[in-house]
Amino acid sequence: MTNSETLIQQAAERLRASQRLVILTGAGISQESGIPTFRDALDGLWSRYDPAQLATPQAFQNDPALVWSWYAFRRAGVRRAQPNPGHLALAELQRRLPAAVLITQNVDDLHERSGSLRPIHLHGNIAITKCSADCRGEPTVIPLSPEESEAEQGPPNCPYCGALARPDVVWFGETLPQSALAEAHRAIRRADVCLVVGTSGVVVPAAHLPYEAKSAGAFVIEINPVESAITAIADLWLAAPAGEILPRIMGVL
Ligand code: OAD
Repeated sequence: MTNSETLIQQAAERLRASQRLVILTGAGISQESGIPTFRDALDGLWSRYDPAQLATPQAFQNDPALVWSWYAFRRAGVRRAQPNPGHLALAELQRRLPAAVLITQNVDDLHERSGSLRPIHLHGNIAITKCSADCRGEPTVIPLSPEESEAEQGPPNCPYCGALARPDVVWFGETLPQSALAEAHRAIRRADVCLVVGTSGVVVPAAHLPYEAKSAGAFVIEINPVESAITAIADLWLAAPAGEILPRIMGVL
């Protein structure tokens, strides 16, 4: 058996025996669907765009049309993308282990479209538009067709209060949706295995979750072709793309 086959067997054994699995995904799971990550050196979004000008409340205040059009461009990319074998394998894993909880930092809906049940979105959902004043509670969703939400001419106004509409995503400097974060913490505290897929592990509080799981006694498995801030605490590190390794794990589970 090669080294990677041994690691795949070990990961499969841990997952099979797990009673309370928690899966945490990041941009790497969607990379093979053609959605760029944020921090990869070659094609990461933050190597081409400045987050301070596009992903902060201040940026939206300064230039709402620019921020709106950048999200419209990303939203169209998500709409064109299809779930990859990594997403499909995680959905299958959830079917095999119905107690498993899936937490994602991603704002795309590829987990849902691959059949995963109720992923917890820590950073929001790019397909949803909300009132920037959240005038009717958090979030005040504004129903828009994909064509309307991808229109070039800047954000429409909230039909209830007239404030500008914005994407329902978490920007730098904003707090995470509290119910999603509380649900994630509850699951993490009880986890016996924590499977971390495709995150650099540098954006908190999401990046703390695997550390909390580890402190509470969970076995940590990481899938990432590159060393991350999680690798140091991983009990098993499978250094390969998720779309290759996850189907291989499911093949022996
Ligand atoms: P990053 O771009 O920081 O990290 C992506 C990780 O995925 C890297 O460690 C890559 O090595 C890894 N990766 C790339 N391709 C992969 C593949 N095919 N299979 C497995 N792993 C792969 O993305 P996140 O960690 O998700 O915040 O970033 C966290 C947050 O920072 C995002 O949610 C976003 C961003 O600013 C918000 O939008 C609020």
